[in-house]
Amino acid sequence: MRQKIVAGNWKMNTTVPEGVELAKAVVAKSVEVPSDVKLVIATPATHLVPVADVVKGSVVALSAENCADKEKGAYTGEISAAMVASTGATYTILGHSERRQYYGETDEKLVEKTKLALANSLKVILCVGENLEEREAGKHFDVCAAQVKNVLYNFSAEDMKNIVIAYEPVWAIGTGKTATSEQAEEIHAFIRKVVADKFGAEVADDTTILYGGSCKPSNAKELFAQPDIDGGLIGGAALKADDFIAIAMSF
Ligand code: 13P
Repeated sequence: MRQKIVAGNWKMNTTVPEGVELAKAVVAKSVEVPSDVKLVIATPATHLVPVADVVKGSVVALSAENCADKEKGAYTGEISAAMVASTGATYTILGHSERRQYYGETDEKLVEKTKLALANSLKVILCVGENLEEREAGKHFDVCAAQVKNVLYNFSAEDMKNIVIAYEPVWAIGTGKTATSEQAEEIHAFIRKVVADKFGAEVADDTTILYGGSCKPSNAKELFAQPDIDGGLIGGAALKADDFIAIAMSF
């Protein structure tokens, strides 16, 4: 049985004290969430150390939102996978569309980042998804297949145990426009097939595929009821502990 996950991506929100308070609220409410749902919070890099302290001993796992494509050295401003791991974080998001769009994150860089994250025992949440233009041109299957293949086909079935995929249609992120559960299920099932084509049905069956894009308490139940949707990667609604936990209780 693949792991159900609800992960919050805080993006560039909250100061350190605000983040610590939010993490405390999530930890306090996490006891309400069934134990088969894994909770993850991805915080800005500045928050990882103090938030690691807050989540210690709880069911909430900590994630970075990104890490560098280089191991170490003269890369001013970058944060390595080893640095992320040394904070106590156990996950990192990679390939978020905002990083692909605004910071030139290419599939080639994502291969390097994924290698370094896995080498430092971090689990990876790899984001894929088409933009509006690609969706309207009917290219969403091709775009998602290419993103999955370009990165994940460089890894092994063993590596896939530590990789989660998040399907996030760019047109649904922060727009209030959620993909319908049918639209999301269709592409989740397709992504699972792309994984199966390389790694076999068993690995594909065990791979957690999250939906992200305006997921909120009011639509999470319908999305999570789909057979190939194994949880969510939550942006805006993860900034309110009540909403985040309500989403996690929507299976
Ligand atoms: P929203 O939930 O704010 O649409 O963001 C989704 C997202 O990008 C999570 O990574």
